[in-house]
Amino acid sequence: MPAKLIDGKKIANHYRNSIAEEVKQLRKDGMAPGLAVILVGEDSASQTYVRMKRKTCQEMGIHSILIEYGNEVGENELLEKIQQLNDDKAIHGILVQLPLPEGIQTEKVIEQISPDKDVDGFHPVNIGRMMIGEDSFLPCTPYGIMKMLQYEGISPSGKHAVVVGRSNIVGKPAGQLLLRENATVTYCHSKTENLVSYTRSADILISAAGRPNFISGKDIKPGAIVIDVGMNRDENGRLCGDIDFETAKETAGYITPVPGGVGPMTITMLMFNTVKSARRAIG
Ligand code: GUN
Repeated sequence: MPAKLIDGKKIANHYRNSIAEEVKQLRKDGMAPGLAVILVGEDSASQTYVRMKRKTCQEMGIHSILIEYGNEVGENELLEKIQQLNDDKAIHGILVQLPLPEGIQTEKVIEQISPDKDVDGFHPVNIGRMMIGEDSFLPCTPYGIMKMLQYEGISPSGKHAVVVGRSNIVGKPAGQLLLRENATVTYCHSKTENLVSYTRSADILISAAGRPNFISGKDIKPGAIVIDVGMNRDENGRLCGDIDFETAKETAGYITPVPGGVGPMTITMLMFNTVKSARRAIG
């Protein structure tokens, strides 16, 4: 029995419609939500992501500005620009696209963003708030994953959730959000021994490792919920995830495709966080 496809585009549209309605209402009340996007360097994937984020802003009636720098920009110039945006009343969200070029300290840049405008949910204050269950901006990819599960009527409670990858922006917070929903969470990473012994026992498997097609159907528990955060190129240059979709779909109960799975949800939650910030700004 092949897996049910979790259609990220369809679910994203569902949430986008209600976010767009809220933007309309805010605009009627004289408030235009605004997002500032900072892009440093010439990374082509980053350029694509930024373009997609700004296009979605436009579709939803969210005002967006783009601030672009070359690789050679100084850290201080970047920090000053962020401070200026922190003080700008027309801007409710500030996003610095990662990765930043070598020589710029990513932590320092993220910590310069006001936690009240940190719509990526990367600032240590927001990460801390998330850890203890306080209201905060949640990181967009893990938040999008939780919304997908919710939309499909899947409760993580009591389930064994295995997260492959431990990045600050996906793996670590994804595990935390699953823990908040009462899953039993195992983190796996590049140093994990006998990885398949974990993936095979996962009721919910989330892969954010960035390795093309490296988890196959035989390494998945029958009926498992499989969420693929990977965005890789295979040997033919085609976009693919971490999960070998063709074999995995025969074993899994639910599976996200790449593309069209987690990606659209990440952008949707960025829009959600920006509107939430604008709403907060008017009390
Ligand atoms: N680089 C990869 N994913 C993300 C993201 O969600 N936000 C930012 N700012 N940079 C990223």
